[in-house]
Amino acid sequence: MSCKKLKMICFSPTRTTRRILDAIAEGVGAECSEVVDVTRADRVPETCDCADNDLVIIGAPVYGGRIPLIAVERFKALKSCGSPVVPVVVYGNRAYEDALIELADIAVEAGFKTLAGAAFIGEHSFSSERTPIAVSRPDEDDLGKAREFGKSLAAKLADGSLFAGDVEIPGDRPYKERSPKASASPVSNDACQLCGSCERVCPTAAISVGSLVETDPDKCIFCCACVKVCAFEARKLEVPRLLEVSQWLADNFSDRREPEVFI
Ligand SMILES: Cc1cc2nc3c(=O)[nH]c(=O)nc-3n(C[C@H](O)[C@H](O)[C@H](O)COP(=O)(O)O)c2cc1C
Repeated sequence: MSCKKLKMICFSPTRTTRRILDAIAEGVGAECSEVVDVTRADRVPETCDCADNDLVIIGAPVYGGRIPLIAVERFKALKSCGSPVVPVVVYGNRAYEDALIELADIAVEAGFKTLAGAAFIGEHSFSSERTPIAVSRPDEDDLGKAREFGKSLAAKLADGSLFAGDVEIPGDRPYKERSPKASASPVSNDACQLCGSCERVCPTAAISVGSLVETDPDKCIFCCACVKVCAFEARKLEVPRLLEVSQWLADNFSDRREPEVFI
């Protein structure tokens, strides 16, 4: 079986997951590709129409060793008719724990068949000048490995070993418990120009910009897309507990981790 069409389905607030998926897709070299980006609620399609020989790559970041709940909900809206799928998680250099197996399970429940899986590293959402964590990842080395992985996916599809069913995806069931979410959010300071870029990138529509910036702390998932997109550096994550976590991550997870592929 060779791959004619490649579909990428992703949730990626700070775009590291999306960059990895794009590099994998480049390596696959399919005749055409389509992106279903469910990062914004208004882009979630009701069904995912795939033919048997479409290859689907599904990607999400790791939050607390799991797939973010909001991504789980959005992925569950998708249905498939037995297409080969490659679950890919991207994590901030600490650990991915049960996220990859969770994503693989979501895809199988939706009707896909697992061809391979992978865990890559992206700059941590909480990374800052004070607490740098996996800064500038994925870098050229990561993207090269993602392209190589894409090539090996195309080779696996071409040699017909697709349904051998021997792909072992690491992780435990039941999955690690989710931590309760605090009701808080990043805040905008006086440097804010009310440009609205934070509102546009927020995956949960928690931000509204008018004559000031208002954020619903119950909707915020701390993805930090608003912090990273702000051209005026006016948006900061100043939640005390999360600043402590950021410091802990910067102090304890500075050794470079490398991508892992399961094929
Ligand atoms: C709420 C939250 C929890 C996170 N939990 C983890 C984690 O358990 N392990 C880890 O290594 N990185 C963790 N990260 C970092 C993200 O997985 C990482 O920054 C990823 O590259 C973000 O993907 P994106 O750019 O597609 O949004 C977490 C980030 C957030 C916002």
